[in-house]
Amino acid sequence: MTLEHDVDHATPAAAGHEWWRSAVIYQIYPRSFADSNGDGIGDLPGITSRLDSLAELGIDAMWLSPFMTSPQKDAGYDVADYCDVDPLFGTLEDFDDMLRAAHERGIRVIVDLVPNHSSDQHLWFQQALASAPGSRERARYIFRDGRGENGELPPNNWQSIFGGPAWTRVTEPDGVPGQWYLHLFDSSQPDFDWDNEEVKEEFRRILRFWLDRGVDGFRVDVAHGLVKDPQLPDYTPSPDAASMGGEETPAPYFEQAGVHEIYRDWHRILSEYDGDRALCGEAWVSSVEKMALWVRPDEMHQTFNFDYLMASWDEAELRDIIDRSLAAFSGVGAPSTWVLSNHDVVRHATRLSLTGENPQGTGIGPDFPGIPKYEDGVRRARAATTLMLALPGSSYLYQGEELGLDEVHDLPGEARQDPTWFRTQGERYGRDGCRVPLPWEDSAPAFGFSHTGESWLPQPKRWAPLARSVQAQQPASTLNLYRQLLQLRREADLGSGTLECVPEFGSGVLAFKNSGVLVVANISGADVTLPDGHEVLATSTPIENRTVPRDVTVWLKEITH
Ligand code: GLC
Ligand code: CA
Repeated sequence: MTLEHDVDHATPAAAGHEWWRSAVIYQIYPRSFADSNGDGIGDLPGITSRLDSLAELGIDAMWLSPFMTSPQKDAGYDVADYCDVDPLFGTLEDFDDMLRAAHERGIRVIVDLVPNHSSDQHLWFQQALASAPGSRERARYIFRDGRGENGELPPNNWQSIFGGPAWTRVTEPDGVPGQWYLHLFDSSQPDFDWDNEEVKEEFRRILRFWLDRGVDGFRVDVAHGLVKDPQLPDYTPSPDAASMGGEETPAPYFEQAGVHEIYRDWHRILSEYDGDRALCGEAWVSSVEKMALWVRPDEMHQTFNFDYLMASWDEAELRDIIDRSLAAFSGVGAPSTWVLSNHDVVRHATRLSLTGENPQGTGIGPDFPGIPKYEDGVRRARAATTLMLALPGSSYLYQGEELGLDEVHDLPGEARQDPTWFRTQGERYGRDGCRVPLPWEDSAPAFGFSHTGESWLPQPKRWAPLARSVQAQQPASTLNLYRQLLQLRREADLGSGTLECVPEFGSGVLAFKNSGVLVVANISGADVTLPDGHEVLATSTPIENRTVPRDVTVWLKEITH
């Protein structure tokens, strides 16, 4: 296995310097970033007020999870109006102000598009409920008659990704029990029928609405969903399958060939605009070879590398996935992306050190065995990030990881809000533990998240020393490590570089060169003594005597005379 590639990252189609090929993109989860009006829920003016701290961090772009009109049954991933801002988060004017302020600071803005399903409060779904079976209004969603003598059984056996059945029966306008509608997620999130022309046209309009406002791109939710096998065949996932897909034989509602035509259509729309607007797909597809189909030259520009995110802290596994990602994505002229955390997974300061099984989306709770000590978990997370940010391609950061935040596994049950928690009667904790509002100042109410001290999920007291204000004063803090890495990455242009494997550091150590920077990640090996003739540019944790112990990654540069 080798990390070496004769990859010319400037393939013809790629010849330009499209920003997204090497960008560091910071995910904002608006509910939990900064609250300006004191109601305990983060909002757009809150984001605008804190943009300087993101500029200081040194990111290229930010992606915002949904802030559109929504009853918030799935924290905004249930959209009732795709072209407006939910009053909880502000107004369209607040959005424009935020966009302008971000652009003034050189930060591009990507918004979240949720095309697989809408909210049940969307006008179209309300019209569908009020209309008869077989009507044009119903045809925009997936309504079917039930099985059984009186249609009392769901049309097939599909289960919702959040638990429970994927079908809900409606009461017809005349009051009798009627058809069923499909929802891969919560019952408040009916799936669109993507064979329907009106649906296609509506999403073209939505894309243009945001492009005209000046957004730099879209993160596309459930980008492996949308199209379903028209037969709607019964399907039972293997018991240990990750909830969001990625199985060898895909579910009949994931990875259907028809999705690619949709992204080709959208690609054409984005191309009509200047400024290298980009689409990034959330496609839980495994392996990266298959994932590369989403980023063929006329489709999306990027896709999240979930195989990388799911990899354990294991040298062979990481080497293999890095190697295969670079080969697979460059094979279609796309950059690889890298990601360790987002709003759906256990934060990597905890996850990479967990000993027990933890399937994606399940979350962890107070009784989860093998939760690491904070110091151990964050040390490993810093090593992992220092490795990731040295890789060529584009990297995603999730808000709070630059503070070394860990998963809040000990949220009380009454505080939890993820539909997964409710739909499984508490059997699966869900994702609230990675969504807790950020600590900005150690001694302010709600750690500066909200001036009233309100916070939609309780913040743990142990986060006080992790507040941004505290870390800004500490040279060796996680925050300062991120700043330093992002600056060095930009100076050496690591995002556009090429990997060259350096095998001599022994097993358990991943070492490579990229653009003149030697990267040594000691994952599980014996102590590594650094080679002479090199200066240390950055270390994930301070080292002594030029010795790199386990769970430490170092960036070095050869000293030239
Ligand atoms: C995506 C989002 C997740 C959401 C789901 C349904 O996976 O990242 O947060 O619950 O789609 O929209
Ligand atoms: Ca608010």
